[in-house]
Amino acid sequence: MCGIVGIVGTQPVAGRLVDALKRLEYRGYDSAGVATLENGLMDRRRAEGKLFNLEKILSEQPLPGTLGIAHTRWATHGVPNETNAHPHFVEGVAVVHNGIIENFSELRDELTAEGAVFTTQTDTEVVAHLLAGFRREGMDHKAAMLAMLNRVRGAYALVVMFADDADHLYAGRFGPPLAIGHGRGEMFLGSDAIALSPFTNKITYLVDGDCAIINHRSAEIMDYTGRPVKRASQISQASAFLVDKGNHRHFMEKEIYEQPEVISHALSHYVDLGAHTIKQTGHDIDFAKLRGLAISACGTAYLAGLIGKYWFERYARLPVEIDVASEFRYREMPLSTDQAAFFISQSGETADTLASLRYCKEAGLKIGAIVNVRESTIAREADAMFPILAGPEIGVASTKAFTCQLAVLASLAIEAGKARGHIDAAQEKTMVRHLAELPRIMSAVANLIQPQIENLSRELSKFKDVLYLGRGTSFPLALEGALKLKEISYIHAEGYAAGELKHGPIALIDENMPVIVIAPHDRFFEKTVSNMQEVAARGGRIIFITDENGAAASKLETMATIILPNVDEILSPMVFSLPIQLLAYHTAVFMGTDVDQPRNLAKSVTVE
Ligand code: F6R
Repeated sequence: MCGIVGIVGTQPVAGRLVDALKRLEYRGYDSAGVATLENGLMDRRRAEGKLFNLEKILSEQPLPGTLGIAHTRWATHGVPNETNAHPHFVEGVAVVHNGIIENFSELRDELTAEGAVFTTQTDTEVVAHLLAGFRREGMDHKAAMLAMLNRVRGAYALVVMFADDADHLYAGRFGPPLAIGHGRGEMFLGSDAIALSPFTNKITYLVDGDCAIINHRSAEIMDYTGRPVKRASQISQASAFLVDKGNHRHFMEKEIYEQPEVISHALSHYVDLGAHTIKQTGHDIDFAKLRGLAISACGTAYLAGLIGKYWFERYARLPVEIDVASEFRYREMPLSTDQAAFFISQSGETADTLASLRYCKEAGLKIGAIVNVRESTIAREADAMFPILAGPEIGVASTKAFTCQLAVLASLAIEAGKARGHIDAAQEKTMVRHLAELPRIMSAVANLIQPQIENLSRELSKFKDVLYLGRGTSFPLALEGALKLKEISYIHAEGYAAGELKHGPIALIDENMPVIVIAPHDRFFEKTVSNMQEVAARGGRIIFITDENGAAASKLETMATIILPNVDEILSPMVFSLPIQLLAYHTAVFMGTDVDQPRNLAKSVTVE
C-alpha cells in the first residue's frame, strides 16, 4: 500500500504535495513525509500518525522548493515511527516507495558489507543506498536508476529525487500503480489519478517494468534496459473535489446511508427499470457457452463473490470456483478456456486480486472485472469491465461497494440464467422487478432499524467475542458481519455456516458470547431456527436478524430481534447488509475507535 506523489513544479510544492497525500490517505495512514529540493539542498519533514501531524510540523517549519516528493505510509517493514517514515535520504538521494522489496535483506547484507550504514528498519532504504552507491561509482542519474531497478526484486512503485538534479524526478513501477500527470509547465507523479486530479486530468499510466524520467514539460519512459517505450496518455474522469462527510459523523455512516442512491445508479446501468429486463452492456462474455466461472477477490469483495456463487449456480446452473485471491493465485488450479474468470475489487488495485487476474489471463480465460475505480489496473487489464458505480468509498470498511457489487452480481446472474436457458422472460421480469424495488426498501430499512441498532450496539460493545451465523446466502453475510465488526470495533468476531455450529464452535457458547443469527424467512429458516435452539439450550444470548414472517414464526427468547420487511430472496443479502453494517458502525462509535481509519488497515492493499 502507501501513497506516493512527486511534483516537478514552477511554484512551491510542499503544500500541494500534502494536498495530494490527503487524497491518498486511503492507501495508508500510519506516518507521512515530504521532501523538497531548494538550491541544491534537500530537506524533509516527517511525522508519525495521521497527515494532520505532518501538516502541523510543516506549518511550524515550512519547506521551500519547487521540486519534491511525498509519501503516506502503511508499514510493511519496520514499525510506524518517524525514523521509518519516507522519504528516505542517503547521500543526496531521496526515495519514496509503495510496495515490498523482496530481496531487501540480501541487498542490505551486501551493502552493509560494502560499508553502508542503515538507519531505518525499512526495505526501502536499500533503494536509496543502491542509488547512492551507483552515483559514487560515476553513473549518471538515469544509469543509476536503471541499475537499481535491475537489482531490486518485488512489488514496487518508486519515485526518486536527486539533490544534484533540480529538473527531474525518476520513477519505476513493478506491481503497485503509478501514474504521470501532465500539467502546464509542471509535471506530476502519483499513485493514482485522484491524487493528481487538482493539478491535471491528463494521465499516463506506467506499466510493470517501466522506468520514467519527468521534467517540467515531458516524460521519458523506457524499459529497464533503457529502451524507449510508448505509453498512451488519457483524460482521467477522477474528480478534483475531496468528498466530504456531509452531515454525517463518519464517512462510513454517510456511505451506509448512500446505499439506496448508489444501488439505483448501479442497477440502472444493468437493468431496464421500465421494461424490467436485463440490459445488454456490450461485453463479450458468452455465458451460454461457459462450462464454469472462476471468481476471486479479497476481504469483503470476496464475500460478495461468495454470494454471487450461490446466485450463478442457482439461477444460471453455472458452476463457480471461488477462492480468496491470495490462495487462488498460488493454487495452480487447472483452468480451461471454456471458463471465464471474474475479479471483484472496489479499488481495482488489490495486489493478490490482480495477480489472480493475470494468472487466468495467461491461461486464456475471458476476464471480467467488477470494480468501483474504473481507471484502475484491474479494470484496465480485464476484457470486460463491470462498474459498480458506488462513487468514491472513503471509509476503510467497505459498505456501499459491497452492496453495489451484489447488485451487479445479481444482474449478471440473471443475465447468465437467461443466456443459459434457465430463466425465461417472465422470470426475468419478476426478478428485475424485485431488484428495482431495492433502493426504496433499503432506504426504508435504514431509517426503520437505526434507533434499535444504536441501543443494541451499546450492549454489544460490552462483549469481547461475537459469533455470526447464517445459511445459504446468509452464510457469506455472516462472514461479512463478523469481518465488519472486528475491523472497526476490534471485538473478536467469527462467522460460521449455521450448520457448522455443532461441529466445533458450539463449545464456545455461553452468556459472554452473543450469537447474531441472520435468518430471513427463506427455505433454510427452520433449519437455522433449530441451530438457534441449540444456542439457547446452552445459555447463549441470541441477536436475531430476521424478517416479519421470520419473527412471527419463531418463539425463541432473544437478546434482541431486528425485524426487516419481507423481501424476495434475491434481495435479502443487500437488505440484510444494513443491520450488520449499522451494528458494526454504532458499536465502534460506542467503543470510541477510529471508525473511518481503523488501526493497521488501509483502503487499498497493493502488497501481497
Ligand atoms: C473490509 C474491506 C476489505 C476489502 C479488501 C479488498 O471492509 O474493505 O476486506 O474488501 O481489502 O479490497 P478491494 O475491494 O479494493 O480489492
